[in-house]
Amino acid sequence: MTSAADPLTLVLVGPMAAGKTSVGRRVARRLGVAFIDTDRRIVAAHGPIPGIFAAHGEAYFRDLERAAVAEALEEGGVVSLGGGAVTEAATRELLSAHPVVFLTVSADAVVDRLRGGNRPLLAGEEDPVERWKNIFEERRGWYAEVASTTFDTSRRPMQKIADEIVAWRREQR
Ligand code: S3P
Repeated sequence: MTSAADPLTLVLVGPMAAGKTSVGRRVARRLGVAFIDTDRRIVAAHGPIPGIFAAHGEAYFRDLERAAVAEALEEGGVVSLGGGAVTEAATRELLSAHPVVFLTVSADAVVDRLRGGNRPLLAGEEDPVERWKNIFEERRGWYAEVASTTFDTSRRPMQKIADEIVAWRREQR
């Protein structure tokens, strides 16, 4: 088992549909460490995210998320967070001891990725991409605050981006 002191732990943050899960899984495979997606952990323990938002509200979800992030960082490996995790000061504080990769993406590139999604913050929106842009702008400063480095996933294969992140991470050791 890896631990928080594992030199290959890293965290992925970024807006919805930036590719955090697909890139994270590939990075973990290449580094030979565990992959943890905190949204998945929350779903496994508490059921689908739209249901959590509907029944208990966003603040409750953020509490679950902070606890899931803390647990994942204890375990170590590649940890992919939900897009809104950085909105919580306590969660940002947890990230401060770790290498954090900010995955950014353009609005043009997310159009296809947002189709058929299961994201309560975009549900029922007449123009989900416009809403996505506004949410990203509100959070951009927080992503920048926690990030050690930034990679753009807009127009390049996820595997290539993952390889570059692995190379970056190895340089940090
Ligand atoms: C959210 C992003 C989602 C998920 C939840 C809230 C957000 O994760 O955590 O729907 O506030 O941006 P993804 O970034 O994986 O879509």
